[in-house]
Amino acid sequence: MGDDVTTTTTRPANKKPKIGIWLLLVGAVIMMAGLLFGYDQGVISGALGGIQESFGASTTMIQIITSWVTLGALVGALVAGVLADKLGRRVTILLAAILFTFGALLEALAPGTTVLVIGRLVVGFGVGVASVAAPLYAAEQAPTRLRGRFVSMYQLAITIGIFIAYLVDQALINNDMWRVMLGVSAVPAILLFIVMLPMPDSPRWFVKVGRRDDAIKALNKIRPDVDANAEIEEIEKAAQEDDANKATWAEVFSKKLRKPLMIGIGLAVFQQITGINAIIYYANKIFAQAGFSTPQDQAAATTWAIGGVNVLATFIAVAYVDRFGRRPLLLAGLVGMSSALITVGISFHFMDNADTSGAGAGGPTTAGLITLVALVVFIASFAFSLGPVVWTVINEIFPNRVRGRAVAVATAVNWGSAWLVSQFFLTLIDSIGNSATFYLFGAFSVIAYVWIWRTVPETKGRTLEEIQEIWEDDNPVQAQRDAGTL
Ligand code: BGC
Repeated sequence: MGDDVTTTTTRPANKKPKIGIWLLLVGAVIMMAGLLFGYDQGVISGALGGIQESFGASTTMIQIITSWVTLGALVGALVAGVLADKLGRRVTILLAAILFTFGALLEALAPGTTVLVIGRLVVGFGVGVASVAAPLYAAEQAPTRLRGRFVSMYQLAITIGIFIAYLVDQALINNDMWRVMLGVSAVPAILLFIVMLPMPDSPRWFVKVGRRDDAIKALNKIRPDVDANAEIEEIEKAAQEDDANKATWAEVFSKKLRKPLMIGIGLAVFQQITGINAIIYYANKIFAQAGFSTPQDQAAATTWAIGGVNVLATFIAVAYVDRFGRRPLLLAGLVGMSSALITVGISFHFMDNADTSGAGAGGPTTAGLITLVALVVFIASFAFSLGPVVWTVINEIFPNRVRGRAVAVATAVNWGSAWLVSQFFLTLIDSIGNSATFYLFGAFSVIAYVWIWRTVPETKGRTLEEIQEIWEDDNPVQAQRDAGTL
C-alpha cells in the first residue's frame, strides 16, 4: 500500500470542490484498485482446500501459493514509482490491470502448481504496481480538501474486496470451484481497465514531462470549476521546487530522518507480525482446526466474522481517526489484539488436548466458539487501529521532499513482513503448535504496545510542518508529555 500523497501542500485548499462525473470516475479508479487488491488477499482462504486436493500440494507448496502474491507485490511496489514517472500514471494503471487479468487467467487455468505459482507472482506484481500508482493518480487529481478522503476510501475498498472474495468463496465452496474463485479476480481488473481507458493522465504528470497543453485539457475535464491556467502555474512552480530539492536515497537514511524512518518501518513491521494476514489468508484452516468441520461452516465463519467485521470496523476508524488521535487508537487496538490472540492460544490449548473425534458432526466445541469470538475481537481491534492508522502515520511523518521514497521503503518493508508471516505460518503451526503460534503473535502485540507507548508521538491535528518539529526533540514522546499535549 504505497498510498503516498503528493508532495504539494502549497496549493490553497479550494473551498467547495464541485464533484462532476470525471472526478467521480477518479474515485472509481481508486475504489477498483482497492477492491482488486482486497479480493486477491481474501480469495485464497477459500481456494486452498480445493487446490490442495487437485494437486496434492505439500504444506510448503501451499504456503508458496499463498504468499508469493506478496513477493510479487513487493517488487511491483518498488518499480511502480519509476513506471509511473516514465510511462505516466494512466498507462501504468492500465498495465497493472492487464497484468492482473493475465495472472488471474493463468491461475484459473493452471495445469499444475508451477503455473499456479507464476500466476500468483504476476497477480502480485499487478497488485503492487496498482497499490502505488492508483492512490498516486487519485491524490494528484483530487482537490486538496478531498485528498485524505480518497486515501481512506482506498483502505475501505481493500476491506470490501476481502469481504467480496469471502462471499464468492462461500458461494462456490460447495462445488469446490477454486479455479472460478481465482478467475473471478479478473473482473475488478477488467473494470479498472474500462474505467481507466477514457481518463486523461494527471495534470501533474503532464507538467512533469513538459506537456502543458495536455495538462490544461486534463484539468478542464476533471475539474471544470477551477481556473486551469492558474492551477497549472501552481503545479509548475511546485514541480520546479521539487526538482531543485530532489531528495537522495542517502538522505532518506540520514541521521536527521532516523527517528521518523524507524517509526515508519517499525509500524509497517508490527502491522504484519501481529498476524493479520495469517488470519486473513488461512481463516478457513484456522476455523477447521477450531472444530468448524464442514467447508461451508468454515467459509461462513470466515465471511462474516473476519470479512464483515473488518469492513465495519474500518469504516468506524476512517470516520474517527482525526477525532481520537493516532496513539489512543493504536494502543487501544493493541490491547484488544493481544488479549484476543492470547485467548485464541489458550482455547487451542484446550482443543489440542481434548478428544475432538466427536466434535466434528455436532459443529464447533465451546473452545471453538471462544476462538471465533476472539478472532472477531482481533479483527475489529486491528481494523480500527493498526489497519488504517499505520498508513495514516506513515504518510504524514516524513518531510515533503523525501516522502515518496521514505513511504516506498516502509511499504516494501510491510510487504516483506507480510511475506514472512504468510510463508511460515503453517510451518510454525506444524513445528511449535497452534497455541504457541498465537502466543507468539500475542507477544509481538505486547511488544508493539510498549514500543508505540514509548516512541510514537501523537501527530493528530498538527500540520506537516509541525510534525517535522517533533523530530528535533531527543525523546519526542517525553517532550509531548512534558508539554502536556499527550
Ligand atoms: C494491511 C494489509 C491487510 C489489510 C486488512 C491493511 O492495512 O496493510 O496487509 O491485509 O489491512 O484489512
